[in-house]
This record gives sequence, C-alpha cells and structure tokens, in this order.
Amino acid sequence: MSHIVILSASVRDGRMSHHVALHLHRHITSSPAHTADLIDLAQLDFPLFHERLKFMTAPPPEVVAFAERIRKAEGVIIVSPEYNASFPASLKNVIDLLTEEWKRKPVALVPVSGGAFGGAQVTLQLLATLWKIRAWVMTGAMQVPTVKNAFDEQGVAVEAEAWAKRCDALLAELEWAMEATRRMQG
Ligand SMILES: Cc1cc2nc3c(=O)[nH]c(=O)nc-3n(C[C@H](O)[C@H](O)[C@H](O)COP(=O)(O)O)c2cc1C
Repeated sequence: MSHIVILSASVRDGRMSHHVALHLHRHITSSPAHTADLIDLAQLDFPLFHERLKFMTAPPPEVVAFAERIRKAEGVIIVSPEYNASFPASLKNVIDLLTEEWKRKPVALVPVSGGAFGGAQVTLQLLATLWKIRAWVMTGAMQVPTVKNAFDEQGVAVEAEAWAKRCDALLAELEWAMEATRRMQG
C-alpha cells in the first residue's frame, strides 16, 4: 500500500482546481492499493514565506505538521492552477519552506486551467522549480483544460470514464517511482 499526498494549491475564492483535487482524493481512496492525504493550502493559509523551516528557531506547529505530512508521503500529486503562465504564490510558499522533504520525492503534476491548453505553461514553470529543489517529477502530467466544464463542486467528473483512465495513468507513473524508491531504500 502506498501513501500519497494530494496538494491542492489554489487558495482563491471560488477556486475550481480544488474540484480536481477532490476527484483525485476520491479516486485514490476507492482503491485498497493507496491511502491519500488531501492537503488544502487554503485551509492551512500559511503566512508569506520568511525563512525555510530548517532555519526557523521557533517553527509554528502547523508548519512542522505540514512538513511531516510531506515527509510521510511516498508520492505527492500537485494540483496547481495556472495563473499568468505560472503557479500561484501559495504553492511557491510551501515548496520553498521545505528542503530535504522534497529530495527525490516522487511528484506527479496536475495542471489546471480555465483555458483550452490545460496548464501547459504552469507545468514548465513547476518543472524548473521542482528540479531545483531535487524532487523527482514524473514524466507526463494529467492536464485539465477548461476545468469549469469538466468537474462539479463535489469533484464529480462530467466524463467519468475518461477521467478515471487519466487518473489511473497518472497513478501508474507515480506507483512505479514509489516502488522504485522503496526498493532503493531497502
Ligand atoms: C490571476 C489569474 C491568472 C490566470 N491566468 C491564467 C492563464 O495564464 N492561463 C489560463 O488558462 N487560465 C488562467 N487563469 C484561469 C485559472 O486557470 C482558472 O481560474 C482555473 O479554474 C484554475 O484556477 P482556480 O483553481 O483558482 O480556479 C487565471 C486565473 C487567475 C485568477
């Protein structure tokens, strides 16, 4: 059994990428092969980055708890909206907060956009940042274009079968990396 964190990055009022995170959470927990922890950055509502956790003298308990949730995850799925061809400050905030926790962490990307291109630009921006922090980013991504037509507020997909296949393809990539990591760690 693999433990996966779904990191929902949008903190915007009326956000729609969170619907995709809800969908993934339900899809993943419907299988006995995985456990899932949905981390909602809107709920955590961290202040703007001042320093990395490892250099904080009195780290807030919620930051320590967040780091522990990422550390415990065998894989992380990042659900990120595309904002002006990049990812939101809320996500950069928590990538920068941690260091070793990201190292060689299998990470799968789910870029979400209002437009028709499915977050192609946010993917490129995220790749550079996650490469720098030494995460292990899966090839391919589950791109979600025109999100408002694809999922409802409860995360129910309009085209359920097609999205189930895409979720499974994403999970298969992540599972391969999580299994490889387990073997390397003995
Ligand atoms: C500040 C801002 C910038 C945006 N820039 C883009 C963009 O560059 N490309 C795009 O396809 N959609 C863009 N969008 C639309 C979002 O991708 C859309 O709101 C989508 O639902 C994901 O974001 P959300 O989870 O906050 O709703 C932008 C939205 C905001 C609020």
